Amino acid sequence: MTDKIRVLISEEDVNKRINEVAALISRDYEGKEVHLICILKGGVFFTCELAKRLAVPVSLDFMSVSSYGAGTTSSGVVKIIKDLDEPLEGKHVLIVEDIIDSGRTLSYLMEILAKRGPADIRLCTLLDKPERRVKKQVKVDYTCFTIPDEFVVGYGLDYDQKYRNLPYIGVVEQ
Ligand code: IMP
Ligand code: MG
Repeated sequence: MTDKIRVLISEEDVNKRINEVAALISRDYEGKEVHLICILKGGVFFTCELAKRLAVPVSLDFMSVSSYGAGTTSSGVVKIIKDLDEPLEGKHVLIVEDIIDSGRTLSYLMEILAKRGPADIRLCTLLDKPERRVKKQVKVDYTCFTIPDEFVVGYGLDYDQKYRNLPYIGVVEQ
């Protein structure tokens, strides 16, 4: 059975906004190289779209993480499923995420990556659900869209591993 999906942010609006955010990042990193860290799997579509639009030199790396199961999630400890291939020393790191929800994943990740000696480390997300934030210290430097507390799919985001390939952001209707 296929679920009914309501469009929350159209493909056109997502693309327009990524153009704007890419222009901001290009301006902020002028004269520097930016090292994008894509958080798999959800961040992959956004990372590609963003990277294509950046006017500064770009290098790319990938990381896959998962939260520890129920019971320990409140500790915010995440398991590294796939670590980065490259060291971070001296690099201008920009983490690219699909969505910041409780902020647990990112708060832990920023802590580990900061210890690897980057020149600086910033965070860019396609979507932000600030109402759900538990880790208030997570500072998002670039946000494409702030959304209400709804479960969304598309543009990399999944529901049970489905719908990552939708070219827009939608809500699965129950
Ligand atoms: P948190 O910020 O540590 O709570 O976790 C964020 C992660 O939860 C994201 O990277 C997504 O994988 C997942 N997630 C949170 N909200 C949604 C949603 O609305 N749709 C799909 N995945 C979500
Ligand atoms: Mg994710």
